[in-house]
Amino acid sequence: AKIKQVEFVKSSGRAKDCPKNALPEIAMMGRSNVGKSSLINSLVRKKDVAMTSKTPGKTQLINHFLINKSWYIVDLPGYGYANAPDSARTDWSTFTKGYFLNRDTIVTVLLLIDASVPPQKMDLDCANWLGRNNIPLTFVFTKCDKKKSGKSGVKRPEENIKEFQDLISKKYREPPPWIMTSSVTNLGRDDLLLHLSQLRNY
Ligand code: GTP
Ligand code: MG
Repeated sequence: AKIKQVEFVKSSGRAKDCPKNALPEIAMMGRSNVGKSSLINSLVRKKDVAMTSKTPGKTQLINHFLINKSWYIVDLPGYGYANAPDSARTDWSTFTKGYFLNRDTIVTVLLLIDASVPPQKMDLDCANWLGRNNIPLTFVFTKCDKKKSGKSGVKRPEENIKEFQDLISKKYREPPPWIMTSSVTNLGRDDLLLHLSQLRNY
């Protein structure tokens, strides 16, 4: 399951510009700032293969990373960030949805959920949209290292995850798999890599 080699292949503005060879791919989906690019760096054990930022809206294109010359991890722009400054702003629904609907090599979508905040409607909507379109899904809770802050009313990751799972389990007879992660402590990294290798069947 270990990642021995990673190679940035290309950034694409549209689904039809993505690499043509039909290798299996794993796509990172989730709200802006949830930690998609950081999780890629954690998985490949490099600091800056994927570019990250404190400011939401960092990733603006579809970025393909070739792993061990045999499968792709795909970094995507986040949703839910409406205030991007200029024309570079990503119209998430037309552009990223086009990617999901036109890539039949997707093995699973990793839908990243920020465990440091309560369940967000947008994430539930996104899970439902993937389900309706028969796109396989794995929930990945991020930022599980974050502890309850001093502010009253701020919940611990465990409580937020439990609430999210309760909402999901009402919708599915068999809920999708889920994994707890942190890109700071690398919690869940090996579990996630094992899960991905099982899905790829090698
Ligand atoms: P966009 O490209 O804007 O969609 O964001 P993204 O989902 O790629 O998020 P990114 O990886 O750039 O991380 C956003 C911020 O969250 C950065 O400041 C990261 O350092 C921080 N972050 C990401 N993962 C974790 C984590 O597991 N724990 C903590 N504490 N912070 C994290
Ligand atoms: Mg990013």
